[in-house]
Amino acid sequence: MANKSLAKDHADTCVLVTGGAGFIGSHTCVELLNQGYRVVVVDDLSNSSEVALDRVRRITGVDDDRLAFYEANVLDREALAQVFEEHDIDAIIHFAGFKAVGESVQKPLEYYWNNFAGTLVLCDVARDHGVKNIVFSSSATVYGEPEFIPITEDCPKHEATNPYGQTKSMLEQVLTDLYVGDGEWNVVLLRYFNPIGAHESGLIGEDPKGIPNNLLPYVAQVAVGKLERVGVFGDDYPTHDGTGVRDYIHVVDLARGHVAALDWMGGKVGTGKADTLGTLAGEPAADGTRRGVGIFNLGTGTGSSVLDVIHAFERACGKTLPYEVKPRRAGDVAVNYAACDKAREELGWTAQYDLERMCADGWRWQSQNPDGYATA
Ligand code: UD1
Repeated sequence: MANKSLAKDHADTCVLVTGGAGFIGSHTCVELLNQGYRVVVVDDLSNSSEVALDRVRRITGVDDDRLAFYEANVLDREALAQVFEEHDIDAIIHFAGFKAVGESVQKPLEYYWNNFAGTLVLCDVARDHGVKNIVFSSSATVYGEPEFIPITEDCPKHEATNPYGQTKSMLEQVLTDLYVGDGEWNVVLLRYFNPIGAHESGLIGEDPKGIPNNLLPYVAQVAVGKLERVGVFGDDYPTHDGTGVRDYIHVVDLARGHVAALDWMGGKVGTGKADTLGTLAGEPAADGTRRGVGIFNLGTGTGSSVLDVIHAFERACGKTLPYEVKPRRAGDVAVNYAACDKAREELGWTAQYDLERMCADGWRWQSQNPDGYATA
């Protein structure tokens, strides 16, 4: 069966966003709606809140006919089929999945089932409905201990140290194989570095359940007085201040990377010929839309240490944030940041916001919503 064409106006294009109520998903919905797309969200609300979608509607001024919502898990074949029957979906942005590294070690079956099997069901139902355009939410975790810094897309992948990372890496392979088996598929794998920050309105942001695992939500909860002090995992790494260096990227920049990926898939930007950098580029379809597998890092290209982040957040919130150095966390690497040339050249996308802005926007969200969406 032929694939749906993306060579048309945004207003005529309907995007299924799985996990659209989550942190990155909700920000991506805002950017898609701002660019005129129609959006259908499928989310099981297992780690997100429907309030986020009300806020997306408030930010963008759209109503239900531009942003539809289905509460469903991607493993639910019947529910997915109903979504495809009720909406003329053109492309999928697939965020839905569990994402806690430590938890994935304790609950491998849940992670493989939800993330891995869920994606297989999603692709199967999509294919049944003639939809073979998919943007997948991958991670810099696929590089493992990186062979070189900055990390380009052709940096070799390494064995993941946990089931969460395994699912990302395995699903990249599955989606690549879909294209190899059927040249109608149009796949983009976006490898995120460390998304932080929030929409500038302060209406949507990251709302982790329980004690946060990631640095930024932890720092933000110390700033708001919910946690006592930040634990700094190791200060003896070979970095400028001994703490781990990461490539933090504003979630709004990241969201815009997804919009750029859709334009790229539609043949509206880029050459599609960057196959030396990990892209499996096929011949474009007759309407100019791409066929193949595009792989892009989404980062800023700048590394910041744990202490850089804590101090930037202190400037944003105007308080001193207590911290304590703790032992290194198992599985952490010293330095991890992206080369972003390929996304710039092909997608026409670069990150706009710096660490100060990420912290300012993150603080606005946290201070206005100290209990996340629970207080809404
Ligand atoms: C982690 C995952 C990555 C996943 C990403 C999703 C690991 C090894 N990697 O990235 O696979 O895609 O989250 O968001 O878990 N830190 C502290 N104190 C804290 C928390 C973190 O010092 O309380 C440090 C870490 O040691 C690291 C940096 O802050 O140097 C960033 O950590 P984190 O926010 O957890 O992200 P990653 O580990 O880079």
